[in-house]
Amino acid sequence: MSKQTKVFKVTPNNLSKIIRECAEIIQRGGTVAIPTETVYGLAANALDPIAVNRIFHAKGRPADNPLIVHVASIEQLEQLVSEIPPKALSLIEIFWPGPLTLILKRTRIVPDITTGGLNTVAVRMPADIIAQELIRSSGKPLAAPSANISGRPSPTTAFHVLHDLEGKIDAVIDAGNTCIGVESTVIDMSGEKPAVLRPGYISATQIEEVIGEVEIGYSDHVTETEGVVRSPGMKYTHYSPSATVLLLEGSHDLVLDKIREMYADFTCRGARVGLLVTSSDLFSLTNDMVYLGRKDEPEEVARNLFLGLRSLDERGVNIILADGSFTHEGVGAAVMNRLRKASEMIIKV
Ligand code: TXA
Ligand code: MG
Repeated sequence: MSKQTKVFKVTPNNLSKIIRECAEIIQRGGTVAIPTETVYGLAANALDPIAVNRIFHAKGRPADNPLIVHVASIEQLEQLVSEIPPKALSLIEIFWPGPLTLILKRTRIVPDITTGGLNTVAVRMPADIIAQELIRSSGKPLAAPSANISGRPSPTTAFHVLHDLEGKIDAVIDAGNTCIGVESTVIDMSGEKPAVLRPGYISATQIEEVIGEVEIGYSDHVTETEGVVRSPGMKYTHYSPSATVLLLEGSHDLVLDKIREMYADFTCRGARVGLLVTSSDLFSLTNDMVYLGRKDEPEEVARNLFLGLRSLDERGVNIILADGSFTHEGVGAAVMNRLRKASEMIIKV
């Protein structure tokens, strides 16, 4: 059963009209893909179980993987959570609105389907003006996971949202490329000790400067399905394009040499090879190449990562050789986490 997905392209003078129409869709229990500062999200009324179910259905998302609820004010947050511990409040004061998601104890108004049955809820206040206006105008907190088919790279353009979800959602607001390119940092503030469950744009170091020591509660590798997983999303394959990704880690020069060698080897055996690189030295090798950004500029690399994975897929390459030799400082840790999870194999050189 396919539906007509409306595409609202933002221009300087139609924003209020778009927000009004999309707010109506949200109020009717529909789904709208929206830009945020990180990636596009697939939004619906977080307090309406039927609307939230439409998100799970459109994405093919496992029911035990909870959603992030997006708010536009502290009053809205207070309806969703039973307490805001002092350290959580400090993080909110410094980083909201922005790419930091807090896990807090939930109140009863948050339906089970939104939290995957957990007694906690993930909440963030997005910095993007369009996202904020839609929350305000609809009067609803918005559940919004990344707007991709489950398991695929998160979308950073409306084109990629439509590639995955056209015919499955009511609308998409096309506001161009997202600024950051990787998802928010997720931190669990519901227990004794704060724990980072997903690295993102805001680094653990930045968080520690505000609230002191935090645990690192994530791994860069897909966690085994056995045992208790703190963040249900961690146990699923993620960020994977159709092509096989091989990630090369090590010093920059050695990685470049290895990419040249493996490119020649696979091409000679008939594979179509795409490259995700951080050095212009490789530009002459092939056109099936995406420049991620300078190796010392992790913010550039973050912005181009999912775009790069998807664009090589669109060209029909079989294998993607990914350069993992950029700095892992700051948002570099999040980029490395996403790349490792997208990879079939990590090759240390
Ligand atoms: O930047 C972002 O965070 C984007 C934009 C759209 O806001 N959203 C996003 O949502 O990345 P999603 O659903 O793709 O990722 C949410 C992550 C998942 O790994 C999920 O398991 C975890 O947050 N999560 C949600 N609620 C949780 C909870 N109560 N406890 C632990 N982990 C939770
Ligand atoms: Mg996601």
